[in-house]
Amino acid sequence: MSKLEVVILAAGQGTRMKSRLPKVLHRLGGRPLLAHAIDTARRLNPNACHVVFGHGGELVPEAIGEPTIDWVLQAEQLGTGHAVDQAMARVDDDAVVLVLYGDVPLIREQTLRRTIECVSAQSMGLLTIELDDAGGYGRIVRDDSGAVVGIVEHKDAGTDQLAIREINTGILAVDGARLRGWLKCLDADNVQGEYYLTDIVALAVADGVRVRTVSPENAAEVMGINDRVQLAHLEREYQRLQAEHWMRAGVTLRDPARVDFRGDINIAEDCEIDVNVVLQGRVVIGRGVVIGANVHITDTTVGDGTVILPNCVFEDAIIGPQCRVGPFSRLRPGAVLKGNNHVGNFVEIKNSDVGSRSKVNHLTYLGDSEVGEEVNVGAGTITCNYDGANKHKTVIGDRAFIGSGVELVAPIVIGVGATVGAGSTLSKNAPPEKLTLTRVKQMTANHWHRPKKKPKA
Ligand code: UD1
Ligand code: CA
Repeated sequence: MSKLEVVILAAGQGTRMKSRLPKVLHRLGGRPLLAHAIDTARRLNPNACHVVFGHGGELVPEAIGEPTIDWVLQAEQLGTGHAVDQAMARVDDDAVVLVLYGDVPLIREQTLRRTIECVSAQSMGLLTIELDDAGGYGRIVRDDSGAVVGIVEHKDAGTDQLAIREINTGILAVDGARLRGWLKCLDADNVQGEYYLTDIVALAVADGVRVRTVSPENAAEVMGINDRVQLAHLEREYQRLQAEHWMRAGVTLRDPARVDFRGDINIAEDCEIDVNVVLQGRVVIGRGVVIGANVHITDTTVGDGTVILPNCVFEDAIIGPQCRVGPFSRLRPGAVLKGNNHVGNFVEIKNSDVGSRSKVNHLTYLGDSEVGEEVNVGAGTITCNYDGANKHKTVIGDRAFIGSGVELVAPIVIGVGATVGAGSTLSKNAPPEKLTLTRVKQMTANHWHRPKKKPKA
């Protein structure tokens, strides 16, 4: 196969989004629309990927942050033909050029391969589809033999042409040298006063180049996003495809319509996911993990066999294997559970390592701490890690037992095997293997009486 170069058009304003954010930076499945097109292009192993940007300026390249992209500025949006032409200075004559759109996120690699395969010295590939409502799209005009002879834009079409149901998706593949020649011949002599990329089709036919059409398997593949209603519609479609993918990969989804996959997600076999679960960013879920209802997981790894009970929120955490977390647990950035841990209700852990088999079962805050193995942290324990100016560390040795209602004022070290009595506030280290406690002596006021209500006058 000859060289492949992809040109992705992403310069348009997207007026109908009614947004300050450039359209291609709006998110689908947690990632910018343009990132989806770039990813799909990448899977074709092109020799180069040129992205034409304009509206929103440097915001677009900055937000996408892909160093291998050739960013091409189209300062003024004079039409799709003009946009492609901006990239041509950097395109090789002997390459096949594939044109994609930054606002068409669900196009499949396989469909693009079929389009590219249509290209030869004597033919080009055009992706078209028949729609019941072709309104707004460019129509594919064919002659009596069925050969494509041109594309006419909706706004330029006569009544007969408006009746055509086969439309131009915009995606096409063509020989680079030929494309360069045809782009030079474009004019803006049409209703919109734009340089139409679609006009190259008639120029190809005039040059004896055959236009071979292919169609996508699924209409959603070629749908563009112009407003937030279409964005929501394609988001649902994307989620449906993700859910199907993971079910086929061995994951049980209690209701595939009530799980959202937003980012770079990986789930091993035999996991079970209940309703209203959101997986976001980089999430890795090990084998046989069970995730209860209403769980929100961002940038987190979950080890094999771990059970997550309902209503948990995790962000930037590492949960080892065979843990039991929740209900209502919150793991914040830097929380690491080494494995076989129990973390229970209303427990918040931040920037802390919790050693194997340690338990933090109820109403606890661990911040900036290092907890050893087989530690039991009692209900209502708080690491007082912040003195109002700086954060300090708490270290709890292996097999320590922290009683309920304890405050550990950091920096502090609780020795290996130490026991801290319930209700203590420790501000000094506790030695290993000993009981340490701070407690006011208990007393009973024998002569005290509970106040009584005065009788009404
Ligand atoms: C285009 C096609 C039409 C097709 C439709 C499919 C042309 C002339 N028409 O129409 O046949 O049915 O797509 O959706 O090509 N863009 C730029 N720079 C520009 C103009 C556009 O980068 O100067 C980008 C836009 O950001 C957008 C894409 O190209 O992503 C399509 O442009 P748009 O103006 O939406 O074309 P349509 O009128 O929809
Ligand atoms: Ca469009």
